[in-house]
Amino acid sequence: MQRLTLLSLGSINADFQVRVDEPAGSRETQLAHDLCRLSGGKASNTAYLGARFGHRSLLLGRVGDDELAEQALDPLRQAGVEVDNVGRAAGQSTGVSMIMVPPDGKKNIVLATNANDCWDDPAIEAMVAVIDGCATPACLVLDYEVPAPVVRQALEAATRNGIQAVLDPSFPDRVEQALLPRLYAITPNVSEAEGLVGHSLGTLDQLAHAARQQQRDGPAVVCIKLGDGGCVLTTADQTLHIPPGDVEPVDTTGAGDAFTGVFAVALLEGLEPREAAAWGVAAANLAVTGYGSQPAYADRQQVIELAQKLLEKARRLDG
Ligand code: ATP
Ligand code: RIB
Repeated sequence: MQRLTLLSLGSINADFQVRVDEPAGSRETQLAHDLCRLSGGKASNTAYLGARFGHRSLLLGRVGDDELAEQALDPLRQAGVEVDNVGRAAGQSTGVSMIMVPPDGKKNIVLATNANDCWDDPAIEAMVAVIDGCATPACLVLDYEVPAPVVRQALEAATRNGIQAVLDPSFPDRVEQALLPRLYAITPNVSEAEGLVGHSLGTLDQLAHAARQQQRDGPAVVCIKLGDGGCVLTTADQTLHIPPGDVEPVDTTGAGDAFTGVFAVALLEGLEPREAAAWGVAAANLAVTGYGSQPAYADRQQVIELAQKLLEKARRLDG
């Protein structure tokens, strides 16, 4: 069987996660429990899923030369992700996320980007060389939790090598709009979509309109991840609402990454965008039912079963 490659470029973090019994920030000093030290960051999370779904999964990014780098990378190595091309930024700390999870599961994150933002020219050249040398078929998943020039050069390399790119536009204020047409797909959450279009998006019709607006001169596929776990998908010939499943959220950390990672895996496997989006919704819905990001991610069979049910409930928004 032909080997498919998922390339993940973006943030690599050490996550420190706790549960809190009251909404985050409700007291000056807040009591917490259930501390977990996990591998995290958007690129780490999508790379983990690439390996979990049985593909060659290659992580690109930067960690520090501290002990936190192993917290970020070791679980990925154990899962089969290739981490040899992750660079070490001398004298820097690895990226750190401090995450509070209240009883409703809606996490609050404080992120110190640290090494994620430390790229020199040799680091960028090494990253570009990996993309240039990557066997196809491959898909590149990117986020903007690394500097914009890094994303730009990665996207240029992907374009010249016929590699489809999928962007999670976090942080939205770093996004270079001129690059959007080079992407195959973009997967903003609602607030990121609002950042991209410049106004608030309250209703499904407004979200559908915004997705179409982004798709017209931009990526072939726009998929807005909704706060309830569903999504609005637009391609050249359809706009679709895929509703969420009926799940009890425990922790939403990394659920957006589960969406983007599994969506990219499905596209890499040749699925149509509507099926890929249903896989993404299913993966995100299942991810919120457990504590932590990577430890809560579901496997292929669970995702496929739920995705089939969700697709039956999908509804067109373009009349
Ligand atoms: P992250 O960066 O942590 O991966 P995000 O910031 O991109 O996530 P959020 O808006 O915080 O996205 O929500 C995380 C994900 O959790 C959403 O994509 C959504 O699919 C899922 N989610 C949130 N609430 C629910 C819910 N009640 N039921 C199912 N899924 C939910
Ligand atoms: O998207 C969620 C991830 O990014 C977490 O693993 C955490 O590192 C956050 O910053």
